[in-house]
Amino acid sequence: MATVIQRGDTPTSREFFMVHEELDIGKGGFVQLQNDGTVIGRIAEVYKANEYFEDAESVSEMDVRQKFPVDDWEVSIAKVSIMGKFKEDMIRRVTKSPRPGTSVKKAKSELVREFLGLDENGLELGEVQQQNLAASFDMTDTLQKHFAVLAQSGAGKSYSTSVMLEELLDRQKSPAIVAVDPHGDYTCFAEDENYMDRTKVFRDQNISIAVKDLSADQIAGFFNGMSGPQREELNEVLRNLQRGENKDFNLEDVENRLERKEMNDKVKYALMRKLRKLQGMNIFGRSNSPSKKDVEPGKLNIIDLSETIDHQKKQIIAAFFTNQFFKKRRQGNIPPVLMLFEEAHNFAQNSAPSPSRSIIEKIAREGRKFHCSLGLISQRPVKLSTTALSQCNTQFILRVTNPNDLEHIAQSSEGITSEVKAQIPGLKTGEGIVIGEAVNYPTFIDVRTRKSKESSSGEGLEHALEEWREEEEQKSDDAEAFM
Ligand SMILES: Nc1ncnc2c1ncn2[C@@H]1O[C@H](COP(=O)(O)OP(=O)(O)OP(=O)(O)O)[C@@H](O)[C@H]1O
Ligand SMILES: [Mg+2]
Repeated sequence: MATVIQRGDTPTSREFFMVHEELDIGKGGFVQLQNDGTVIGRIAEVYKANEYFEDAESVSEMDVRQKFPVDDWEVSIAKVSIMGKFKEDMIRRVTKSPRPGTSVKKAKSELVREFLGLDENGLELGEVQQQNLAASFDMTDTLQKHFAVLAQSGAGKSYSTSVMLEELLDRQKSPAIVAVDPHGDYTCFAEDENYMDRTKVFRDQNISIAVKDLSADQIAGFFNGMSGPQREELNEVLRNLQRGENKDFNLEDVENRLERKEMNDKVKYALMRKLRKLQGMNIFGRSNSPSKKDVEPGKLNIIDLSETIDHQKKQIIAAFFTNQFFKKRRQGNIPPVLMLFEEAHNFAQNSAPSPSRSIIEKIAREGRKFHCSLGLISQRPVKLSTTALSQCNTQFILRVTNPNDLEHIAQSSEGITSEVKAQIPGLKTGEGIVIGEAVNYPTFIDVRTRKSKESSSGEGLEHALEEWREEEEQKSDDAEAFM
């Protein structure tokens, strides 16, 4: 039990101090008290006081520890921020100050769950800090209006996102997932025996874009635009091919047609150059892979770009499939889908237009009507398209220390109070704050341990060195055997 005390200008309707003895909770813990309903507060700071040590002179003049029972006089004080109250089963704003002397208790878990808006059957990403309560978020609230995972490098973005993927894949009903994965962070799901049957990885060799599905505008988009005449000529060539007998044409067929067609030489050469550039990427063919058949509820499709070096090629792959799946989703040809982007700032950059940025921004604006959700993961929120980020209505924020990134995050989310913002740089790996649509109030969580195998890129330097040494040894063994 604890008691509200009078200290400075408190208690007010927003905060109070309390003394407590056996209340076994620390900073971040929840408390409840009665004041025109059940008021819920969160401990913002904890203090110790002892009047024997108040006066510097008497402390220095004599050894108070020897003379007095000082320990008996130590008191624990906590500052509590009032969050709201339950009255007639509704959550309301608190407008009255509690009275000094009011009794305060540790809040009941069910009450905190209801207050924060958590869902017992939701995505369980860990525990609410200081509360021994599952941090479980309603799936629709979390996904439908898009989410972002923001943190500096090494703070646990990929780890936490993997925990979320486990939760989604383990559910009875869950959307299809397509992850654009520049470093192969999620390919470990295909190696884990519990998830391999639900995971498919697409790499350079098995990624293919059907040329017959491309429009002249899309191809122009791959190059961040094209002159009017180029676009018109290309459009005509594509239209003629689409009307022709061979509906399954590829890039070579387009080139041949273009070569034979009469047009301004400059336009022709410029177009040929562009088509050859695309040809050299070795991804254009007669069918799509991944295709709409791969996009099934509860299945994870990973577009692993870790072996792709050409930046434009990565952009094209991301842009094409995002576009394709959004289109199919709008037509109702694929199930509800979550499009996940690791290193999202590279696919939707604030400062530079790119083929993938426009489609990501479009899904950010319109996706929720069609159950096409976005999950943007980034360590450089400053660089991430403001249009896209501001539409991510749930944010998972892990440690961020860069002041520019911190400011950008705070501006993009109304839920970040100055008190919450102040805590972001101090978060430890595995700790996070959830803000926005999925919760009623910013919620501090400890992300749970993952069930699936972690990819080697998340493992430490020592592990990488060990792996290198083993590979080298193997190589020299092989060489010896050969000789
Ligand atoms: N909740 C957690 N519990 C235990 N370990 C964790 C947790 N979160 C992260 N880690 C560990 O912290 C390290 C960094 O995590 P992770 O790779 O997810 O960071 P990141 O934010 O994705 O970094 P980067 O920006 O470099 O991709 C990993 O070794 C991971 O195992
Ligand atoms: Mg990562």
